[in-house]
Amino acid sequence: MAGFHLLLAVLLGPVSGSLPTTSPPRLPSPCQVVHMDVFCSGLNLRSAPTNLPQGIQTLDLSRNMFQNLTRQTLAFHTTVHHLSLHSNRILFIERGLFRGMKNLKFLDLSKNSLDVFAQSKSSIGKLGAVESLDLSGNGLHTGMTDYFLRDSLSLVNLSLNSNSITKIAKDTFSGSLALRKISLHNNVILEIEDGAFNVLFYLTELDLSKNSITCITDFDLSQLQILNLSKNSLEAFQTLDSDLEYELASLDLSQNKIIYFPLVPRRNKLAYLDISRNQLQGVNTTGTAEEMGDFREESFHTQSGQVLRQQDFSNLKYLHLSYNQIKTIPQSFFNSMVQLELLNISNNCIGTFVVKEESHLKNLKVLDLSYNSLRNLTFGKNTLLSLEELFLQGNLLTTMDPHTFQRRPSIKYLNLQQNNLNICMQSPSSNKHVHPHGCVAFYSIPTLRDLYLSENSLKVLPNNAFMDTPLTLLDLSLNPGLEVGPKALSGLEDSLVRLSLRENHISRLDVDLSSLSHLKLVDLSTNRLSALPSWSKKSSIESLNLGSNHLVTLEYDTLVALESSLKTLYVGSNPLSCCSNLRFFHLMQHSAVVVPDIATVTCVHMQDPEPVNIERVTEEMCQSLDNSSRSLTVIVVVVVALVLVVVLGLLAKACYARRQKRSSTFSA
Ligand SMILES: *[C@@H]1O[C@H](CO)[C@@H](O)[C@H](O)[C@H]1NC(C)=O
Ligand SMILES: *[C@@H]1O[C@H](CO)[C@@H](O)[C@H](O)[C@H]1NC(C)=O
Ligand SMILES: *[C@@H]1O[C@H](CO)[C@@H](O)[C@H](O)[C@H]1NC(C)=O
Ligand SMILES: *[C@@H]1O[C@H](CO)[C@@H](O)[C@H](O)[C@H]1NC(C)=O
Ligand SMILES: *[C@@H]1O[C@H](CO)[C@@H](O)[C@H](O)[C@H]1NC(C)=O
Ligand SMILES: *[C@@H]1O[C@H](CO)[C@@H](O)[C@H](O)[C@H]1NC(C)=O
Repeated sequence: MAGFHLLLAVLLGPVSGSLPTTSPPRLPSPCQVVHMDVFCSGLNLRSAPTNLPQGIQTLDLSRNMFQNLTRQTLAFHTTVHHLSLHSNRILFIERGLFRGMKNLKFLDLSKNSLDVFAQSKSSIGKLGAVESLDLSGNGLHTGMTDYFLRDSLSLVNLSLNSNSITKIAKDTFSGSLALRKISLHNNVILEIEDGAFNVLFYLTELDLSKNSITCITDFDLSQLQILNLSKNSLEAFQTLDSDLEYELASLDLSQNKIIYFPLVPRRNKLAYLDISRNQLQGVNTTGTAEEMGDFREESFHTQSGQVLRQQDFSNLKYLHLSYNQIKTIPQSFFNSMVQLELLNISNNCIGTFVVKEESHLKNLKVLDLSYNSLRNLTFGKNTLLSLEELFLQGNLLTTMDPHTFQRRPSIKYLNLQQNNLNICMQSPSSNKHVHPHGCVAFYSIPTLRDLYLSENSLKVLPNNAFMDTPLTLLDLSLNPGLEVGPKALSGLEDSLVRLSLRENHISRLDVDLSSLSHLKLVDLSTNRLSALPSWSKKSSIESLNLGSNHLVTLEYDTLVALESSLKTLYVGSNPLSCCSNLRFFHLMQHSAVVVPDIATVTCVHMQDPEPVNIERVTEEMCQSLDNSSRSLTVIVVVVVALVLVVVLGLLAKACYARRQKRSSTFSA
């Protein structure tokens, strides 16, 4: 890329000069020149090179050693549109420098030492045509911005991020009335004087994130569209009560200390509202009337001492409430949320979540209720018809309407990890018998693709559990003792791609995995399998995890079935036999199959007390074993034969002696 730039520089250099034939030969510039843009970043410069083309548009002097910014140090390149001087050491700016730069629109002075300049109490004068100014990372204190902004009539975008400003005074922006966007992220703002932003009629975007603001009780910037107050110390956010139409569309209040649900403008365009990581205990907008005094009483509907106001969220699309302490959310809270697409209430304390009426949450696509204390999840019959993704992991669900998921006609993704559910058999009549505590049906959900059922203490995976539910992903891991019926995966033949049965204590698997023609990733690790299921044809599995099982021998038909598709195999921590798996080891060593855990793949060899790494197994090891054992057998046979002969001989002798004895007695 650099070479390309330099080549362009050579080709274009003369063209940008005035008269190529008469101009004196230039020294090669250390900068890269692309058309009318010059890049001199990171070259230890204290001033701009003089031998640059005339009429350049962009001049990037970032990461250099500039201290003084003057016409001279800029080598009189005062026609530029775009000037970047970030990460220099600028502590002095020539007064009126920018007024003379009639084309300059973008000026980046971030990461310099402009606090030193401000301490000298001199001003940079008129900012001229500059529309975008970046003063972030300059150690500027409250009041210092005056020396830069006093006369900046064209300024539209201003960044003051990462300075040390503690207060926004009434007149801070009085010299820059055209401002539309202000970023004050990462300062220490404690105080905003009344009216400080109200003078800015065009202001649409304000970033006050990562400051120390504790309270906003009279929000009145009706022209503002985007407001970020994330990472402050806010305990309350309340809008001045008014019938004015507010433009506010995005409000980020995450990571504060908010206790009561914010009071948003009565008439608003709010589409994005983030109140995650606060201290909400419910969705009431204030505490009781007593707690709050008679705070703007007329605007609330007072009911048995509680202060409530039905808020308008008819434009809301995204609502983030995760990481609070919410216990319940009344149905009526969602009344106006007809456009809501994403609702995230994960990591709260909700025990019951009920959606009864069909008018609510019609457009909801994603619902995250994970990591609550849900025991009761009730969705009315014709509700949540648009729901595509449902996160319910980390709850206490044991029973629910068995048809809960079958009645969501758009559901694609369902995470039920870490609950206590049972799976229904396909024929509902026998359900009661199998699961006295009820079950959930996963068959006949034609839209469902991803299903997570790990850590549910599942005992049985019944046959046909997923009939007519063309899953691509099925996670059944961490259900120790799970019994998998031979036809448990029937119906998934043409869809299933990923299957996990990890850590289930399974000792026998009677499922024909090769019948799942799309299967690519299979995890059978940490079980008690001593044999693999049999295969009726070639499988399509690409990654197979057999680690931590009781496998001694991998049968030949397994190898044949896997050989053509397998790319990755985990087989560590099994008591493999060295000599009965020679074919298999050969396959692993001479095919493209990757064994990522090869260091832990060992086998047992009779002569070795220690397990042998399979990379060290050779055919000879097993042959010599054969030979020695054969000679051992010969010796044993010979010894046995000898012993037999001796014993027979002795017996014969004894018999003879006895008969003689007997006959002698007879004769006696
Ligand atoms: C910067 O300006 C100051 C005062 O105007 C001067 O003393 C100093 O030498 C200048 N430094 C450079 C590097 O030009
Ligand atoms: C100001 O910022 C907005 C939003 O980041 C951007 O779209 C616009 O181009 C910027 N305008 C100028 C003049 O920098
Ligand atoms: C608000 O600011 C925080 C912190 O800078 C940032 O992470 C977040 O993305 C911003 N919010 C929005 C909605 O842009
Ligand atoms: C919210 O208000 C309702 C209705 O007035 C009341 O029943 C409930 O206890 C309040 N919840 C909280 C958390 O204050
Ligand atoms: C919900 O919020 C949590 C915490 O911010 C986040 O981790 C999770 O991914 C969100 N869920 C969705 C579906 O976006
Ligand atoms: C769940 O909660 C709803 C509403 O509170 C109630 O009607 C229903 O009986 C509860 N169901 C269970 C199983 O507790």
